Amino acid sequence: MTAAKSLARPRIHEDAERWLDREGGKLCAHGVPLEGIASAVGTPFYAYSAPALRARHAALTAAVGPLGVAVCFAVKACSNIHVLAELARLGCGMDIVSGGEMRRALAAGCPAGRIIFSGVGKTRAEIRAALEVGAHQINVESPAELEMVAEVARELGVQAPVALRVNPDVDAHTHAKITTGRKDSKFGIPSDQIPALYADAPPELRMVGLAVHIGSQILDLEPFRQAWSVLADLVRRLRAAGLRVDRLDLGGGLGIGADGGAGPDLAGYAAIIAQTVGGLDLALNVEPGRWLCARAGVMVTEVLYCKPGEDADVVVVDAAMNDLMRPALYDARHPIRTLHPPRLGTGSRPGRLVGPICESSDDFGVYDDLGQIIRGDLLAFGDAGAYGAAMSSTYNSRDLIPEVLIEEGQFRIIRHRAGIRDLLKLEQGGPWQRAG
Ligand code: LLP
Repeated sequence: MTAAKSLARPRIHEDAERWLDREGGKLCAHGVPLEGIASAVGTPFYAYSAPALRARHAALTAAVGPLGVAVCFAVKACSNIHVLAELARLGCGMDIVSGGEMRRALAAGCPAGRIIFSGVGKTRAEIRAALEVGAHQINVESPAELEMVAEVARELGVQAPVALRVNPDVDAHTHAKITTGRKDSKFGIPSDQIPALYADAPPELRMVGLAVHIGSQILDLEPFRQAWSVLADLVRRLRAAGLRVDRLDLGGGLGIGADGGAGPDLAGYAAIIAQTVGGLDLALNVEPGRWLCARAGVMVTEVLYCKPGEDADVVVVDAAMNDLMRPALYDARHPIRTLHPPRLGTGSRPGRLVGPICESSDDFGVYDDLGQIIRGDLLAFGDAGAYGAAMSSTYNSRDLIPEVLIEEGQFRIIRHRAGIRDLLKLEQGGPWQRAG
């Protein structure tokens, strides 16, 4: 990770958006009909475009790279090892939040020296594992965690590279459940506590800098300016006190446009980095999850039944909230396209797309631009590459659905379907035991 350089106007290529095309009426990805993948792996499934992922990474690095900003992918957004490997090959670092994510990042070929360990509740074992492999940095979120990291470092006889995560008390203007930088949130350390903690860190800790992350799906760039200005002020204060500050982790959170539209401008994002923290001679990094992979993925589902409803027809699909949780959890709306040419006109009504789960929250929203929908139709939910498969569960004893990766003219399965047989294996009861 290199020190910040002066701002150069980034060249931005966002052709990544256009990887789904209609060929002969069929929705195709890089010449591969999604319908053909559905026949091969069954529905529902996730499909990712490797070229789109690479293009997103290229666009972001073109924007922030000239400032010396390293990109570390937030593994939680899409933790499939093949997706991680694709990014690791491009030189991307990884932001992890658990020992499991660390194992994935390493197994995907990301060197430990490019791994940053974030998160508010790291266990002793996870901290130990990160120090043993030589992770680049541990972002610490409380005085108690700082003590724990020091204790583990002492046991191992190493010095732990630590950044303090600052809570800048900034509202990111995003959904309440993905806002993380306000003072009432559980994340980070209030700025006024930072100087003393940083200065008094025990010798087992190598204090390398500061980190921040104010939330996710952020569309207004101003909160970034506010948060990074808080960091810049802190850097100046710490340095004025004779302390060494080498790195800033600027967090993730850059959003993508609603309903498939354009999101915030990368050049504007980069300019704010340059203006707030660019001149401080620091090694900088960002931790995007969604921005890199959301647009590179779709979830494909089949229509099971349609029935007349109050304001819209009820369209029951075979994907549910366990497969794609975001609409139920954050009222998120994913752009939807039919795999067939839309049957427009002739009295088609809006459709309320719902899944089979026995909860009213298993509802993907009302869509009025899909044309007439009938049983057996296939639909692609867009912007599903982030926090889709990664957040899925087996609620209602449903399958963990397959994931496939698409390259020009071909696809491969990168996660097999895990069904009830696999689940029941985990439930083979153990012997009765006494605790104590
Ligand atoms: N860094 C840290 C410390 C984080 O906690 C997160 C996300 C990121 C980076 C990446 O944020 P991104 O660039 O992806 O916005 N499940 C929610 C999003 C939760 C984000 C949690 N933290 C959703 O589906 O919208």
